[in-house]
Amino acid sequence: MDGLDTLKARFIAAVSAASDEAALEEVRLAALGKKGEISALMAGLGKMDPEARKAAGAQLNILKDEIDAALRAKKAALADAALNERLQAEWLDVTLPGRPRRMGTIHPVSQVMDELTAIFADMGFAVAEGPQVESDWYNFDALNIPPEHPARQEHDTFFMARAEGDNRPPHVLRTHTSPVQIRAMAAQGAPIRVIAPGRVYRMDMDQTHTPMFHQVEGLAIDRDISMANLKWTLEEFCRAFFKVPSVELRFRASHFPFTEPSAEVDIRCSWEGGQLKIGEGDKWMEILGSGMVHPKVLAAAGVDPTQWQGFAFGMGIDRIAMLKYGIPDLRAFFESDLRWLRHYGFAALDMPDLAGGLSR
Ligand code: DAH
Repeated sequence: MDGLDTLKARFIAAVSAASDEAALEEVRLAALGKKGEISALMAGLGKMDPEARKAAGAQLNILKDEIDAALRAKKAALADAALNERLQAEWLDVTLPGRPRRMGTIHPVSQVMDELTAIFADMGFAVAEGPQVESDWYNFDALNIPPEHPARQEHDTFFMARAEGDNRPPHVLRTHTSPVQIRAMAAQGAPIRVIAPGRVYRMDMDQTHTPMFHQVEGLAIDRDISMANLKWTLEEFCRAFFKVPSVELRFRASHFPFTEPSAEVDIRCSWEGGQLKIGEGDKWMEILGSGMVHPKVLAAAGVDPTQWQGFAFGMGIDRIAMLKYGIPDLRAFFESDLRWLRHYGFAALDMPDLAGGLSR
């Protein structure tokens, strides 16, 4: 069967020319499929006499196996090539550094709390906390604001409900962070140096007031702390916080029930061209209330006023955040508008520290 060699050569060439699996399958069908050429030759064996059939049959079987083997080998080669092509195309360098993706931002209030905590921690102040739902005693009485004191009216207090028939004074949403002074002194005694940043609540709402806002309380009690220490501490804070080489503070006599003497503190600034500059100019801006802690307040917290004295201050956090970062409207702070947060927010991994310059 001379023709078989030609047949074989033709199919082997067709196998090796097949460039993909579909073309290879066509070659397989043309050779070994039901209607394929080799199948047809096999079918023709029946008409031969037994001797010739035996020889031809053996030859055809060998040819069939050879073509089958060539088809399998080619199929494996094509699969290999396809895999290699994919590996090339989908190549990935796992040693590359990750691409940073912004996962939300740090709110300016949180940022400023972190900044001022870093500054005061550097001066030896620990952070103290207290509850936002506060008893009438901590929020008022212990701070020398007895019932019927006019200062209670000024605080526009939110009162919590009491059960019917319960005539004790209702709890309040704390109207300032000052009650944390009492809690911290009662828990730790003197000497003590703490700040207490946190949320406070008053019934007030306009462009510069929201019913919830933030304050930071400061308290330093020791045997000989004076107003001079207060002034230095506040100047040091303002210099670091507003990142200016020098600041000028003005103490104005004032009145708070929980301090004696009391002072409101203004910072020298200019508003030239609508832009705020701290430490220069001829304008003064009020930034906080302060004073020497009243002996009655020390006594209420279990600290002996004949042995200990010190200063306290309370400052609005939202306000200094607006000043430092040029944010015009306080209400936007609490609207959770994503565009606002992206614009005024801070990167999550930039923790403020003094060496790093607080904020970038
Ligand atoms: N608690 C006062 C307020 O909310 C602020 C304040 C004034 C706090 C004087 C103080 C202070 O510690 O000494 O208006």
